[in-house]
Amino acid sequence: MNKTSMILDVDTGVDDAFAVLFAALHPDINLLGITCVDGNTNVDQVVANTLKVLDAAGAGDIPVARGAVRPLLGVSQYAEYVHGADGMGDLGIAPSTRKVDPRSAVELLRDLIEGSKDPVTLVPVAPLTNIALFLRAFPESAKKIHRIVLMGGSASAGNATAAAEFNVWHDPEAAAIVFQSGVPITMYGLDVFMRPGITSEEAIVLKNSTAPAAQFAGSLIEAFIERLHISPITLGDFGAVAAAIHPELFTTEMFDVVVDTSSGPARGQTICDRRDAFLKDLEPLGLEDSAKVRVVMDLDVEGVRQLWLKTIEKGRF
Ligand code: RIB
Ligand code: CA
Repeated sequence: MNKTSMILDVDTGVDDAFAVLFAALHPDINLLGITCVDGNTNVDQVVANTLKVLDAAGAGDIPVARGAVRPLLGVSQYAEYVHGADGMGDLGIAPSTRKVDPRSAVELLRDLIEGSKDPVTLVPVAPLTNIALFLRAFPESAKKIHRIVLMGGSASAGNATAAAEFNVWHDPEAAAIVFQSGVPITMYGLDVFMRPGITSEEAIVLKNSTAPAAQFAGSLIEAFIERLHISPITLGDFGAVAAAIHPELFTTEMFDVVVDTSSGPARGQTICDRRDAFLKDLEPLGLEDSAKVRVVMDLDVEGVRQLWLKTIEKGRF
């Protein structure tokens, strides 16, 4: 299989860590770099957490850049109740000796996309502030993005609010800019996000592994389960990375999608037009603001779970 050249945009976050571990370890991914954004926790903590995850993966010198410190218009709204005060389960992991890249997130995105001889897949698993800023700052480079496979949105219910998923809700204006960019988008949203999970028993097996990445992952999962009192616990953001390299494990549908950027109760909703064609023709969905988006509506749960487990257990190839 050809390698996929990939850039992650993260707000690490426990489930972002599951995605970064996998992307750093999987042999079919050429992880070009990671950009960090304000989301689950503040961007400096996101950077620190992301560097720690690369340590756990035994990764090489993968550039990690600091991005937006807050949403385009709104204020930061952290998810400490889910990810802990430090954003990564409050495990007290020692700081990394890795250095953050001196470039800003948008500069690193430009340089990696311009410098790649292969098509680049962008996988944002966080609020889309960095991606929106990049699209506005370097539109010529943005045209070279092969596709975006993002964790965000929902064709059904929300999580941050009744209507909105956290990443889109955190910065709806940024999400609207990204969805309307014309770049092909696959939306890995709440319709499937919770389904690929890991049990506390599987976490214990990982912790007892000889592979450092597996031990790290097992501890994170245990902390996640203890905090939320849920088992199995979702692998979350990892699913978007899996959808980028193993589309055969996922079922998608194309919908017209518009992001609600109003100040009402639906702010941050990704409104997916699932009506029959004749009804859509009668009353189009605000087409000037909508985009045709490939939405993940189903998945092979066990296939996705095993993809992650086998990659993490095997560790560095
Ligand atoms: O709604 C889930 C998303 O919000 C995930 O990316 C999680 O890490 C948080 O950022
Ligand atoms: Ca995230």
